Amino acid sequence: MQGLKKIVGLVFCVVILAGKVFGQDEEASKMEWFGEAKLGIFLHWGIYSVNGIDESWSFFNDYISYDDYMKQLDGFTAANYDPEKWAKLIKSSGAKYAVLTAKHHDGVALWDSKVSDLTVVKKTPAGRDLVGPFMKALEKEGIKKGIYYSVLDWSHPDYDRKTRTEYRYKDDPERFQKFVDFNFKQLEELSLNCQPDLYWFDGDWEHKAEEWKSKQLKEQLLAWNPNLIINSRIGGGLGDYDTPEQGVPVTRPHSKYWELCLTMNNSWGYQHNDHAYKSPGELLRVFVDCLHMGGNLLLDMGPKPDGSIPEEAVDILKEFGRWTSKHASAVYETQAGIPAGHVFAPTTLSKDKKILYIYLDYKVNESLVIKGLKNMINRIWVVGNGTKLKHREVGKMYWSQVPGLKYIDIPDNVYDKDITVLAVLLDGEIDLYREKGQVIESN
Ligand code: GLC
Repeated sequence: MQGLKKIVGLVFCVVILAGKVFGQDEEASKMEWFGEAKLGIFLHWGIYSVNGIDESWSFFNDYISYDDYMKQLDGFTAANYDPEKWAKLIKSSGAKYAVLTAKHHDGVALWDSKVSDLTVVKKTPAGRDLVGPFMKALEKEGIKKGIYYSVLDWSHPDYDRKTRTEYRYKDDPERFQKFVDFNFKQLEELSLNCQPDLYWFDGDWEHKAEEWKSKQLKEQLLAWNPNLIINSRIGGGLGDYDTPEQGVPVTRPHSKYWELCLTMNNSWGYQHNDHAYKSPGELLRVFVDCLHMGGNLLLDMGPKPDGSIPEEAVDILKEFGRWTSKHASAVYETQAGIPAGHVFAPTTLSKDKKILYIYLDYKVNESLVIKGLKNMINRIWVVGNGTKLKHREVGKMYWSQVPGLKYIDIPDNVYDKDITVLAVLLDGEIDLYREKGQVIESN
């Protein structure tokens, strides 16, 4: 009897363990494309582009009255909306996924939602679905389809909050439940019509996960698409990846998958008075910083009310395209690099950890030095340029574990105008010396 119990227990453990491992494998393979994508493009498109003011927040913060904010509906024409052109531009930048704001906190749906009157189809001169055609165009270009959806909706008659200071009602779970049902219905429309690969939720901070019914929502969304990826802003820690915003992380985020979302200027949507664009080179450096820390960059732009894309954004995407295609091996096939201190530059590693990529946004004085690298270097070349570089090791003491200094000479004419990438091929998996140095004990 005792023996039988033991066997049953053992079988039970094996089943649980196998389930866990299998579950993890499934999870990992679902996230594979996201981990390799590295670059995504975020599009904040909505009626806020008409006046060129903050998306939704401008009425929430009372910079403009709600009624005047909504007058922008009349100017949202989408007259030059060309989803194929958008998708091609995005592809040319080297991005592997795109996320479009189907509905921001203002509640204006960019598709033909049957459960709401507040849609661009019913309320703006655009008069048609703007989400579906873009999703189709992305699919045609082989770009993964992402939909941004704000779970909070400051316009909806059943949502409790209207602005920073005004509430429609408070503490009425039944009425709030009606609103949550509405969210489920809108997400059903989007899921069935567009089959997104990724949902980018936002606005969860106003209510608890239980109130949003986040768990049920996630289950429902996964039932429609088991491979769906969901960002962290669904509440309850249920998301697949983290979304730091604007501020570039300084140390490597703890979560395995993460994505920095960042505006090109200071605005998510199109604002004609915001000329504070970061330069393509500056944005590329942020991108490289993300690569170094094993994350993605979701670079944002705001199309104009007619659907055209601001020239500055086009220029930035073109420059990204030039750089990412030249340096493709040092972008998509990489993982997070080595800790700071070994070389004065961001780094990444190839998947097999045998190539160390070094990203230089400056011209080095005399030579570049790598310290604490135990490996032998087999070869060094300039990525996308092809030139092989010489190196020499200096200062290795026979009695010490501490590796010597490895100097790399870089001729002036191999530099890229934005960021130069060196590929350092090692004699095996990277092996670093991470101690404080050593004192001689015998010479
Ligand atoms: C914030 C803002 C929102 C913006 C989003 C993008 O959560 O509420 O306006 O769309 O960030 O990350």
